[in-house]
Amino acid sequence: MKTIAVLNQKGGSGKTTIATHLATALHRAGHDILLVDSDPQGSARDWAAVREDQPVPVVGIDRPTIGRDLKNLARKEFIVIDGAPQAADLAASAIKAADFVLIPVQPSPYDIWATSDLVELVKQRIEITDGKLQAAFVVSRAIKGTRIGSEVSNALYEYELPVLESRITQRVIYPTTAATGTSVFEEDPNGPAAAEINALMDEMLQKLI
Ligand SMILES: Nc1ncnc2c1ncn2[C@@H]1O[C@H](COP(=O)(O)OP(=O)(O)OP(=O)(O)O)[C@@H](O)[C@H]1O
Ligand SMILES: [Mg+2]
Repeated sequence: MKTIAVLNQKGGSGKTTIATHLATALHRAGHDILLVDSDPQGSARDWAAVREDQPVPVVGIDRPTIGRDLKNLARKEFIVIDGAPQAADLAASAIKAADFVLIPVQPSPYDIWATSDLVELVKQRIEITDGKLQAAFVVSRAIKGTRIGSEVSNALYEYELPVLESRITQRVIYPTTAATGTSVFEEDPNGPAAAEINALMDEMLQKLI
């Protein structure tokens, strides 16, 4: 079982969009997965509840006992945790439960600076686990063709955590599909959004297996 925690205490960085899409992509690729909504706002649960025939299994664990609770669940190949904003105890608990912490960050200096506390927590955990915990940034909501989009990776390298090659672009299809409890795969399976989500999944799988 591999647990991917999508975390960033900064609100609106794209955690739920990425967690729901990564879980959907892994499910579509035939993996046995569970999406864990650790956010008391319940956005991932709301997303799942829109559809009666939601193929992605979602449970809510919004207490700082995520690791223990996950041990009591049926074993899955992959667990994707959708992180909560501004809840240090929940973030610490998700980091402890994780094999991989994925940090979506918007290409803006404010968003980059705001990740510093999380980066510290993650680095401490990497040290305690002797490098067993992996972590990386993924640039989220990048606007195509802008300089800030290309500069963000350089700014993030200063935190000394890897930055994934794949990035998620700002596209209207993401909120559109969220409203229907679906994903970019149903709406436009051969489009650029589906391609970038698949690229993210492939890069994560390469790092995890
Ligand atoms: N790549 C994207 N393109 C366009 N809109 C996006 C993208 N990613 C996220 N959004 C939109 O931005 C808003 C915030 O995204 P999301 O809910 O995924 O972030 P979050 O980090 O989970 O937020 P919170 O911290 O409140 O949980 C949502 O309305 C979402 O639909
Ligand atoms: Mg969210």
